[in-house]
Amino acid sequence: MTTRREMMKTVALSALALPMLSQTGWAAPLSSMNELRKEFDIPPVPDADDPDFWSRIRDQFMLRKDEVFFNTGTMGAMPRVVVARMTEHLHVAASNLAEWDYVADGDMMSGYFPYEGIRTKAAKLMNVDMSELSLTENVTMAMSFVCMGLQLSKGDEVITSDQEHPGGKSSWQAREKRDGIIYREMKISKPAHSPQQVFADIVVNSFTKKTKVLVLSHVISGSGAILPVKEICAEARKRGIFTVIDGAQAFGMIPLDIHDIGCDAYVGCFHKWVLAPSGNGFLFIRKDRAPEISTTIASSQWDNHVDEGFRFTQRGTGSLTLLHGLEAALDFTNEIGQDKILARIKFLGKYLRDELRKLPKVKMYSPSDENMCAGITVYNVDGWTGPKLQELMWNRDKLRPRSSSDIHGLRHSTHIYNSIAEIDRCLKIIREIAV
Ligand SMILES: Cc1ncc(COP(=O)(O)O)c(C=O)c1O
Repeated sequence: MTTRREMMKTVALSALALPMLSQTGWAAPLSSMNELRKEFDIPPVPDADDPDFWSRIRDQFMLRKDEVFFNTGTMGAMPRVVVARMTEHLHVAASNLAEWDYVADGDMMSGYFPYEGIRTKAAKLMNVDMSELSLTENVTMAMSFVCMGLQLSKGDEVITSDQEHPGGKSSWQAREKRDGIIYREMKISKPAHSPQQVFADIVVNSFTKKTKVLVLSHVISGSGAILPVKEICAEARKRGIFTVIDGAQAFGMIPLDIHDIGCDAYVGCFHKWVLAPSGNGFLFIRKDRAPEISTTIASSQWDNHVDEGFRFTQRGTGSLTLLHGLEAALDFTNEIGQDKILARIKFLGKYLRDELRKLPKVKMYSPSDENMCAGITVYNVDGWTGPKLQELMWNRDKLRPRSSSDIHGLRHSTHIYNSIAEIDRCLKIIREIAV
């Protein structure tokens, strides 16, 4: 008899095999992590005291072995279990659609249901209540929901830094044009020298009586600087300023406790450091502030003030396959242990920075204070540009850090699929041009 695994393999090779998939039955629950691992030949997650722990974690990914990916800051690489879970759901959805009766807990499309299970898993990892958390498509959408939903009048001031990502700042600029609010960017040094300096730049030198909103990255995408958002939010709160933190580069890279930060809203994503498929973002709004944010994308839950997180999650028909991928990525995080993942990210990032700092021609844009750094390192070499360095890394040794016009030099993200040996390959190239 054909096993399901054999069926999946056959499907990958031949469209003729598609009719066989209906044998899986719509009613069959999607596989658990352990079943998936067996079914798709994915090795179990190794024990943490295994000496080869991280190299065996690397085997959990489909990234090609002859290429090295250092661009998690743009998009994370999905583990095999995430791909398997999505593949399984796609096949079920494509073959068994007629069996679906659209019951409230139906498992075919996203956009209309509250997904409490997934939201609870994510909420636990960032210390918020499930009802405060919404699933959005990305960070841009989450930020736009806050920005467009907040009651602001002409002359009200929004303060942010001069190093925000377009997905974090553009909605505020759009409101400046539409409603006459005042959008102000405060300069913070690059590299940021200390949390105290950032605090002074943002709080002491910027807040005025007109300031109504503070928008700030938790981790600056173009330098990797971790900002003292807790201290800044506390000052803003004293002045009645609504605080929105952009955690696109934070969740999954550094420990995150949103209630401890004390912000009113926090936007982020799962498709970078949490290794979920792209198209998975989130929005947190504190319980007591959520009713103030009016609905931008409206369906039947537009006025739901019991589960406010559902109000912003509901956005019309979407891909449930992506949410299955998200859930598998959260399960994968929990399987390994979030603490271990964060420690490994920091360990690799610090190794890279320590070595780069020894080279006289290297200009670092990441902070010199290691407490302000984790998995993102940004640097340049005298006489080089970011795009040229990016090209050199790829042409010489198939290494893929990232450069772009908004990044000074090269941005190097390190995650659990990276290794010291891979970082050494980059350093070898940089040493040749930077001594
Ligand atoms: C700090 C920051 N904010 C916002 C975004 C936009 O994220 P998304 O593409 O998920 O909307 C990014 C993307 O890199 C980012 O780094």
